[in-house]
Amino acid sequence: MSFHLKQKHYGWRDLVGIPLACNPVCTLALMGQKALTGVVNVLWIPVEAAFLNTAIDCAQGNAEKSSVYPLLAAMLLIIFWKRMGWNLGRLPSGRLRTDLEYQTRLEVTKKRARLKYSLLEDSRTWELCQRIGREMSRNVAGILSNVCDFLMAMIRIAGVLVILFAESPVLGFVMLAVTVPLVFVSVRSGQGIYRAFQKASENERRGEYLQTVLTGRDSVDERTLYAYTDYVNRKWHLQREKYRRTFVRAETLQESRTAGSGVATNLISTVIVLFLALELYHGRLGIGIFIALSKAIYDTINLMYNELGYSIASISRSMAFFQDLTEFADLEETEGTDDLPAAERHKFISLEFCSVSFRYPGSEQYIIKNLNLVLREGHHYAFVGENGAGKTTIIKLMTGLYEEYEGSILLNGRELREYAPSELKAMYSSVYQDFARYQDTVENNIELGDIRSMGTAEAGKQAQELARKLGIYEEFARLPKGFQTPLGKIADGSVDLSGGQWQRVAFARSLMNPAPLQILDEPTAALDPISESRLYEELGKISGGRTTVFISHRLGSTRLADTIFVLKDGAVCETGSHEALMEKDGLYAQMYESQKSWYEPAEGGARA
Ligand SMILES: Nc1ncnc2c1ncn2[C@@H]1O[C@H](COP(=O)(O)OP(=O)(O)OP(=O)(O)O)[C@@H](O)[C@H]1O
Ligand SMILES: [Mg+2]
Repeated sequence: MSFHLKQKHYGWRDLVGIPLACNPVCTLALMGQKALTGVVNVLWIPVEAAFLNTAIDCAQGNAEKSSVYPLLAAMLLIIFWKRMGWNLGRLPSGRLRTDLEYQTRLEVTKKRARLKYSLLEDSRTWELCQRIGREMSRNVAGILSNVCDFLMAMIRIAGVLVILFAESPVLGFVMLAVTVPLVFVSVRSGQGIYRAFQKASENERRGEYLQTVLTGRDSVDERTLYAYTDYVNRKWHLQREKYRRTFVRAETLQESRTAGSGVATNLISTVIVLFLALELYHGRLGIGIFIALSKAIYDTINLMYNELGYSIASISRSMAFFQDLTEFADLEETEGTDDLPAAERHKFISLEFCSVSFRYPGSEQYIIKNLNLVLREGHHYAFVGENGAGKTTIIKLMTGLYEEYEGSILLNGRELREYAPSELKAMYSSVYQDFARYQDTVENNIELGDIRSMGTAEAGKQAQELARKLGIYEEFARLPKGFQTPLGKIADGSVDLSGGQWQRVAFARSLMNPAPLQILDEPTAALDPISESRLYEELGKISGGRTTVFISHRLGSTRLADTIFVLKDGAVCETGSHEALMEKDGLYAQMYESQKSWYEPAEGGARA
């Protein structure tokens, strides 16, 4: 059995339901141990009362000494269980905690992988995901121990109440009346703390970001040069202050509520014990039960004030967390998002944008406006256009990341939305504009491009072959661990790469993928001019005859494309080969001439 995150309302039943699904044996063992401890605690009262009465009788010569021994043995047994039970309970509770942490984390990461792409760009959803990720282990792992503590406390309270009712129903009612408001106060404060946490999580997130600016490796160079540490520190302090104030307010409220009810309950328990003393005085209560019950009442009030209060507050905090969990489980998924690329790949024949318009979810502004274009098998295409023209957005639409476009996108004549994610994944490989740098071995960094073959001897050979094609083989081969050298800054003996080397690793990764359509979003922005021009000249050979779509601001490279799409304000304003576009003398020619003028002196000798 294991825990599965479902689209449903998470409520109080799940306090036990989730641990039961994760590990039923440990859950039941822990609940049994706690319940038994609660019962044993209640049993202590009559046993202690009987012991005291018998001991007094013995002292007065009214009973045999031997009559004390069984009671003494029972008391020792109870003490033994209380000690041993606590130790025994640690075994299932430790195991359960690990299982809960593992299984819930797994479900949360799976759900996140399945989320609709556009949701990941929505800041509210992003924050919810972050909160769930962080709070899942904090809340869920402790759920059952809180429930068990609550169960144990309730058994003890119920036991004391039953005995008290039996001795004096009026006092039993008074005690019951004390319990209810205390439980209420604990519930409210637990929920209050979680709400405060929800409110403060935005400040916490901003604070965390600023902390990475202050201490992270990515910003170390600029931090040193611009010496902005003090400035960022002040901003961090401001976020921290807001975060702290929200919490202090909630905690002070909780403390004052609990302290107030604590004073009241202590007063009331003293009154109850005074009334019990009166019963004793009038001979309606034995001395043994008076002492045992008085102690139990003070213990129980203490228990209500401390453990019960704490466990109820934690449980209601978990209940508030369940509201987040319900919302998270309800987030829209795209079916098959976490599937592997299909093993059987479609051939790429054509991709057609027919009057496509698009605006990002939550935005009024159209980024792509009535776009029409066709890509066909075996050709090289280039997209050019100024920053923000919509090039990366077109790539996102092409690969099916957004479905909310108007018009139609036809892949091999079939609407893109009709394809399963696994089919689309098998169709494209890509070097993204902000490609990832994995802190893993060179080999794994490249092999990740084809998860199906990863780790096989063939994949290893292919990765080395690709590194050779991209001119990075020698650099890695001469490292002590060769292609097994970890890259980045985390592992011992790792080697960090230059920006251009990282980019070539990302390029090799995309080539590792056998998809028929290769998308390259500024794949050479960090390469030196010689490597870049060599790469483009050999693009046909390197890409193995695949259809390629590349975006580049360096128009020298786009000359090699069969067709160039020039974008302006989200639409194609010019199409054609380099020669045709130059002849047309439009925007492309203007951009090309502008770049060229940096390299070639204008007529008359001076640089334009
Ligand atoms: N997730 C997003 N949500 C809302 N707007 C976005 C989002 N991503 C990009 N945009 C907007 O869409 C427009 C086009 O962005 P896009 O990244 O496609 O440009 P680009 O042509 O690739 O630019 P560059 O040459 O700088 O890479 C920009 O105005 C940008 O602000
Ligand atoms: Mg871009």
